[in-house]
Amino acid sequence: APADAAADAPPGATPSGPGIEARERAVVMTMGALHDGHLQLVRAARGRVGPTGQVVVTVFVNPLQFGPGEDLDRYPRDLDADVALLAGLPEPAPGRPAVDLVFAPPVEEMYPGGDPIVRVTSGRIGTVLEGAFRPGHFDGVLTVVLKLMHLTRPDVAFFGEKDAQQLLAIRRMVADLDVDVEVAGVPIVRDGDGLALSSRNAYLSATERADALALSQALRAGAAAAAAGQGAAAAIEVASGMLNEHPGVVVDYLALVDPTTVDDLEPEYVGPALLLVAARVGTTRLIDNLAVDVA
Ligand code: PAJ
Repeated sequence: APADAAADAPPGATPSGPGIEARERAVVMTMGALHDGHLQLVRAARGRVGPTGQVVVTVFVNPLQFGPGEDLDRYPRDLDADVALLAGLPEPAPGRPAVDLVFAPPVEEMYPGGDPIVRVTSGRIGTVLEGAFRPGHFDGVLTVVLKLMHLTRPDVAFFGEKDAQQLLAIRRMVADLDVDVEVAGVPIVRDGDGLALSSRNAYLSATERADALALSQALRAGAAAAAAGQGAAAAIEVASGMLNEHPGVVVDYLALVDPTTVDDLEPEYVGPALLLVAARVGTTRLIDNLAVDVA
């Protein structure tokens, strides 16, 4: 967090008392390798707090949320490039940076005694879908998100709908543990061809990237079938049919769930739902999701 609020205040800003920071603060938490999806969160954060508010971006590849055999070691890290991207964002007011502070702690600073003994548990949310394929992942996410909330003391924290189950888990943590931070969701940013932006897209070869398009295409087709009155089961059938046409895409799960609980839906269900997919393309694991209105 900024050491000296007064020195950091824009001209004309009045602190509300000695040592008291009056500016609204938004935080965007990331693991770096920033792309336009992350930048969209930063834009939303700045839009929310205005030119006089503070926007903090955290960059930390959190070992706690990576399982054995996952990509912790090869996860792309380039802090200079990340800072340059953030510095290139338009100023909210003349002389004011889009991002006030980048907090990029080394691992030893976040976990000085090694892995923490006490952690946040995500409960049932952490054992289904993404959690079933990545045991302990959401506990690791929630533990670091709560720590980063304590360290940056935001009024509001922005997270992407790209990681829908993560966003839900964070909303539940904040509600269940009375964390005094507002959680704001931001819609998925996609490339022109529909592929959801992800730091892990950097791993994809040209052919793998073409295969990866099947995810968003399958979600759209499934959503269209459900919206056309063919029912919840049809959404899965249509989407899985499209995914199966791509031998390079190995599906971990494809599910239509309640968007507020990620619980499975009855086949007769009508109403808002979330269609989620996770798949491996080569050695790269990708996730995507789409809101569905089951008619
Ligand atoms: P990371 O994968 O770097 O993502 C940081 C934030 O950016 C998350 O809230 C994610 O949902 C959002 N995001 C990523 N791609 C997006 C896209 N295409 N459109 C919209 N938002 C997108 O998620 C994490 O890091 C970590 O788990 C973290 C929350 C930082 C905890 O370690």
